Amino acid sequence: MSLTIGVDVGGTKIAGGVVDEQGQIVDQLRVESPAQDAEAIEEAVAGLVARLRTRHEVTAVGVGAAGYIDSARSKVLFAPNIAWRDLDLRSEIEARVDLPVVVENDANAAAWGEFRFGAGEDVDDQVMVTVGTGVGGGLVLDGRLFRGAFGIAGELGHLRIEPGGRLCGCGNRGCWEQYASGTAMVRAARAEAAEGSMLARPLIDRAGSVEAIDGPLITQAAHDGDAFAIDQLATLGRWLGEGIASLAAVLDPAVVVLGGGVAAAGDLLLLPTRTAFERELTGRGHRPVLEIRLATLGNTAGVIGAADLAREPAG
Ligand code: BGC
Ligand code: NA
Ligand code: ZN
Repeated sequence: MSLTIGVDVGGTKIAGGVVDEQGQIVDQLRVESPAQDAEAIEEAVAGLVARLRTRHEVTAVGVGAAGYIDSARSKVLFAPNIAWRDLDLRSEIEARVDLPVVVENDANAAAWGEFRFGAGEDVDDQVMVTVGTGVGGGLVLDGRLFRGAFGIAGELGHLRIEPGGRLCGCGNRGCWEQYASGTAMVRAARAEAAEGSMLARPLIDRAGSVEAIDGPLITQAAHDGDAFAIDQLATLGRWLGEGIASLAAVLDPAVVVLGGGVAAAGDLLLLPTRTAFERELTGRGHRPVLEIRLATLGNTAGVIGAADLAREPAG
């Protein structure tokens, strides 16, 4: 059985795994991400691959990266939240690891992982929305990963949902990820807490300070019944659901999979998302309604998807 390596390069950590043809991770490693230093990220990815290779025979490497990847699956053209501009990431990594490498958009990789081995296994048309530092998108249409003419289809986080709205890392205003990302939720929670909301007191106490409020803490507090935290997730869910209704108007998928760190909130995120979606869906009451599901591979979807996509030879 052939094994490949999938690597998921995130803003805070880099995860790598050796994955078999059934999408099972047979070994994995995780290191801190040197965030904004492009060369240090390349070194870290190469180091991780080298360590995994000493323990397994692998044939290829797939790297999921949070940016606009060209159709040759090689260059990062642009990344709104990382200092990558027109960088040939594939060549940089291939030079260091001496294995065939493909680079994929991180959310495309996660979408592919969920489609092949997770929440979208039973359908042909699946859209994935990853909710984390940004909002990522991956489109599987008619059983294939849809990359568009230039490789950069599915940049769902940069749909404009609020004209003249918040400034985005991409340079535009009002992008979906400025409202529906984990970052946006945390920013809103901190702002309300700093303004002195009485409701926020228990969360501030739990965190120790306003600045220490983060996504995992909000999720944890919400699970414990904290009204303020539940409200933050409900607001996030509303933004997600409204956006997903617009996506349904364009793509008509059978399933939308919600992933990323915030998906750990489970029903506390899923139910408000569904409610907003059903309220906004065009033609509601007169059409089949897609299902919104939580990712089932958790934070390994990107690793598994990138490893599987590495089996497809690069163009
Ligand atoms: C980037 C995408 C990425 C997403 C999730 C967005 O800001 O534009 O390329 O997939 O964040 O990481
Ligand atoms: Na994408
Ligand atoms: Zn944007």
